[in-house]
Amino acid sequence: MNNKVFTKLSYGVYIVSCKTEEKITGCTANSIMQITSSPAYIALSINHENYTHDCIEKTKLFSVSILSVESNPLSIGTFGFRSGRDCNKYEKIPYELKDGLPIVKDACGYLLCEITDKMETPTHTVFLAKVLDGDLLNDNTEPMTYSYYHNVIKGKSPKTAPTYINE
Ligand SMILES: Cc1cc2nc3c(=O)[nH]c(=O)nc-3n(C[C@H](O)[C@H](O)[C@H](O)COP(=O)(O)O)c2cc1C
Repeated sequence: MNNKVFTKLSYGVYIVSCKTEEKITGCTANSIMQITSSPAYIALSINHENYTHDCIEKTKLFSVSILSVESNPLSIGTFGFRSGRDCNKYEKIPYELKDGLPIVKDACGYLLCEITDKMETPTHTVFLAKVLDGDLLNDNTEPMTYSYYHNVIKGKSPKTAPTYINE
């Protein structure tokens, strides 16, 4: 198989966040898709090794901050290349709480979600989640695409990302 074909699939770039009794945390994710509109459901693929996986399994709730081309790309690195097990990722990232869940302030929109079901693969859990609420934070900018992240920002993806390609 030519793995390069997977680079032709399109995604956005998101920060998936949650709140446990101990801390607020989250990780960068591209693997989010809308499943239905009314009622609204989304799906999300998260690696078993990610701390965010344990946190959203435990609390069943998470937020999605939808990054735009104007969002600070440092958030992608902070949330995408470190583990919330050993650091406070939100320490230097401006955020606000929506119904108790953290949202990255310079995102262009957000969703608040509750897990309703899940499917397992050998490495990732696919969570199905009902969208409880959501709003625009900035309607005058373009959402960041995964392709923009790779081709313009020249960002990389770690092995835990579902779209990782070993080059
Ligand atoms: C651009 C980008 C996209 C990513 N997409 C995903 C994803 O969809 N699912 C996933 O499990 N990890 C994804 N990752 C990897 C996680 O963000 C990374 O493993 C993170 O360090 C996990 O942090 P945690 O242990 O605090 O949860 C992505 C990383 C980057 C940089």
